[in-house]
Amino acid sequence: MKITAILLAAGQGTRMKSSLPKVLHPVAGKPMIWHALQAIRQSTTETPVVVVGHGAGEVTQYLGDSAQTVLQEPQLGTGHAVMQAEALLKGKTDLVVVCYADMPLLRGDTLQKLVDTQKQNKGPISMLTVIADDPRGFGRIIRKDDGTVNAIVEEYVATPEQLQVKELNVGGYCFDANWLWDALHRIPQNPKKGEYYLTDAVELASAAGLPVHATVMDDVEETIGVNTRVHLSEVEAAMRRRINQAHMLNGVTMIDPASVYIEADVKIGRDTVMMPNTYLFGATEIGEGNVIGPNTIIRNSKVGNGCKVLSSDLEGAWLEDDVDMGPFARLRKGAHLGNHVHMGNFGEVKDSHLADGVKMGHFSYIGNAQIGSGTNIGAGTITCNYDGEKKHPTEIGEDVFIGSDTMLVAPLKIGAGARTGAGAVVTKNVPEDTLVVGMPARAIRKLERKPKKK
Ligand code: UD1
Ligand code: CA
Repeated sequence: MKITAILLAAGQGTRMKSSLPKVLHPVAGKPMIWHALQAIRQSTTETPVVVVGHGAGEVTQYLGDSAQTVLQEPQLGTGHAVMQAEALLKGKTDLVVVCYADMPLLRGDTLQKLVDTQKQNKGPISMLTVIADDPRGFGRIIRKDDGTVNAIVEEYVATPEQLQVKELNVGGYCFDANWLWDALHRIPQNPKKGEYYLTDAVELASAAGLPVHATVMDDVEETIGVNTRVHLSEVEAAMRRRINQAHMLNGVTMIDPASVYIEADVKIGRDTVMMPNTYLFGATEIGEGNVIGPNTIIRNSKVGNGCKVLSSDLEGAWLEDDVDMGPFARLRKGAHLGNHVHMGNFGEVKDSHLADGVKMGHFSYIGNAQIGSGTNIGAGTITCNYDGEKKHPTEIGEDVFIGSDTMLVAPLKIGAGARTGAGAVVTKNVPEDTLVVGMPARAIRKLERKPKKK
């Protein structure tokens, strides 16, 4: 059986007050519409169709080949929106799942239940509803005596009696495709707003004696739609709780989940501890048995097993196992720290490999460098890698001892087992097992010591 989803995303999203199309606003680091597409995947068999309108160019560009798009111009309502997909889908799918692209919390399992309900339904429509005290402007569900749905009444036309109804239209439907295409053309134009409402398809079915089934959802949170940035923040918080819970159930410890911010794509191994005020962004992968934070931001980075990362900032970095970092260390793009590397406070590494066991305790900058295993980088060491025009490489062998405050003027090679004296300015290559020193301080004159004030 072929099952295709249509996502409605043509609306303007006026109340977001944004130049970014509503469905591209991120939730847990991914555009809202990404979440909707994730949810759809589980219960459908074909590439989804997204109805675009406002901001069509940007939305289409974002979607790439994850979906087909059809343009709705002008936007004449949700029924009219679905109609735009007819040419593409007629005769090509058995069931059509319709949902709104601004409901990022709707779960794949929920849509699966919806599709399963429709597979058993002799009528043409199954839909999702929720029972809630706060109606949030949703359409009210009017049931028949036999329990099937008679109609959906939008809030602004509902009678006082209908307004009391607690069962609400969530905005998720599964249709028998053959029935749907035909029915869409019979939806009347709404006299007040001039639009064609998808919700009126329910009345068409029930008037023809065809049963409409409703699945009542038990998690109200899933039904939150985003119309304003206040809703966006509610959805963000709910999504973050959901992501954190999934990690905890997979064996990740969180001392204070409310202060742990993990984006949707991040992977974390078991027995890793996320301390408070930690952020994992982008395509980050964290292995097992690490302690991350407190106060750490990791973006698009890979961390092996058994590492400690305290109060540090990592972007585009790779840590192997048992690395010990921070506090206040910074790794930039292309930083690669081998096993058992120690990197202490106020260091910065960019585009460099520190091989196994390198120690870099304090205040250093290492850029465009390869550093051999077991080497010690003294406090305040700088690779002077930039001459104002170009970046130059530095190569340091194994078991080198770089004295405190050494300036390594690149391009430069330092052989294995070499040593530099404190404060050396190294401008020429240093052979293996060689000691270099530079400009030691000389005594110039005797000083008079001032008497101490009382
Ligand atoms: C809709 C439902 C309402 C339901 C509520 C749940 C209708 C008529 N009403 O109301 O019963 O309780 O959602 O959130 O469907 N869109 C288009 N093209 C259009 C109009 C809308 O693509 O011409 C898209 C919007 O971008 C949005 C979705 O359809 O993603 C819903 O439209 P919206 O205007 O927000 O409907 P609601 O008034 O919220
Ligand atoms: Ca809405």
